[in-house]
Amino acid sequence: MPSEADPCSSEANPCLSEVNYRLCCTKEIPKLKKDVTMKMIKLIMNVSHEIFPIVEPHIHKWNEISLLLISDTELVKEVLNNRDKTYVKPDFPGDIKKLLGDGLFSTKGEKWARQRRLAHLAFHGESLKCMIPAMVDSVHMLLKRWQNLEARVVELFEEFTAITSDVISRTAFGSSYIEGRNMFQMLGELTTIASRNIFKLRLPGVRNIWKTIDEIDSERLEKAIRDVVLEIIRKREEKVNTGEMNDYGNDLLGSLLKAYHDPDESKRITIDDVMDECKTFYFAGQETTNSVLTWTLFLLAIHKDWQQEARKEVTDQVTLGNLVLPADIVLDIPTLAIHHDRRIWGNDVHLFKPERFSEGIAKATNNNAAAFLPFGLGPRTCVGINFATNEAKIAIAMILQRYSFTLSPGYIHLPAHILTIHPQHGVKVILHPLQCEHVRAQLD
Ligand code: HEM
Repeated sequence: MPSEADPCSSEANPCLSEVNYRLCCTKEIPKLKKDVTMKMIKLIMNVSHEIFPIVEPHIHKWNEISLLLISDTELVKEVLNNRDKTYVKPDFPGDIKKLLGDGLFSTKGEKWARQRRLAHLAFHGESLKCMIPAMVDSVHMLLKRWQNLEARVVELFEEFTAITSDVISRTAFGSSYIEGRNMFQMLGELTTIASRNIFKLRLPGVRNIWKTIDEIDSERLEKAIRDVVLEIIRKREEKVNTGEMNDYGNDLLGSLLKAYHDPDESKRITIDDVMDECKTFYFAGQETTNSVLTWTLFLLAIHKDWQQEARKEVTDQVTLGNLVLPADIVLDIPTLAIHHDRRIWGNDVHLFKPERFSEGIAKATNNNAAAFLPFGLGPRTCVGINFATNEAKIAIAMILQRYSFTLSPGYIHLPAHILTIHPQHGVKVILHPLQCEHVRAQLD
């Protein structure tokens, strides 16, 4: 590294020679996405796991620098553990802000530390234990509906949208999916708009003169979401004011409202903080677990041997349980690339081989903590990790106990990056009720 040159210049650091590449790259994304059509056809025909070049073709192809991809796991560890607090979350584009507000996922510094404590209290230990019955209840409702189905073909992404929405509504906000349905619909629409526009650039100020249809829609949705959250907050406050509840409660909404009404002004949070946190958790609490459940059942539907192994477990018992960088550079850790890296996982990386994990994640990753990052790493590890894994284990266990399932012939394999990885045409499976009546009687 030449010491006197501007470290950001291309002479100083040949790796940064394409620092102005950003515009080209961002424009290139839609083109790259179109170019993958042929690959998609191959993917659909073979139900291949090689989804990385199709779902994130830009990351697969790019070698650009203003957005620096860090996939060397030693560096990933350094960035995510962030011991010297060098790396901060970037500012998210406007539509993502509308979706998540300045909530725990995006906020920084002192505010992040305070909000993290509140969320930690709501999603760990005793609070988490109290949520288990609501998780079980929601899955029971799903299974009851499946029992009465005439045709046994179900579309999992939709089915799991209902239960994951119900679970987060009940456990974090004390309301129900029916009550929050409007909210989830609007969040879904805003997610679609956000992912459609995430790489589109608009000149500053143009938005004030002329708005695109997506901009008009996202502003409308932001306002409507705000109104629904305000109503949920108002209802909880009313319950306390009328004596129906002794205090604001111990769920996430309760913790937030306690902090909003904290007698100590220095500890108080604002109504906008409450609002943003509610949006973050409505979104993060549902979207994520929905994807994990859908794709897990997809994998078990095409790997019947593993479905049987998994069923064996749950019918016995359910266990719960050297670069100089410009200061404003955005680091991107391409999880999908790391999870598909042959150097880490071997040449059979694209094969579905859960047995890789039979002796634990540490063994599977050769003690490389940054090789497997489904929930992130370091201080910003997913705060909902236990919540999500409990919910997913409960739902999958209860389904395996009652049904065997196969992939419907009409299934079209088109995973797409819409913040999380969505099945573009859903995941249709055919349910086959299990015959052991005594087991079913015990379970119901
Ligand atoms: C299988 C389901 C889930 C997966 C795979 C997942 C994944 C992740 C990952 C990778 C991060 C780290 C992001 C980063 O480093 O920038 C994260 C953060 C976060 N997750 Fe999750 N998540 C899941 C479920 C949930 C649930 C159920 C909730 C809420 C109940 C939740 C709330 C959050 C929040 C608020 C953060 C930001 C934490 C912070 O910055 O302090 N997640 N999640």
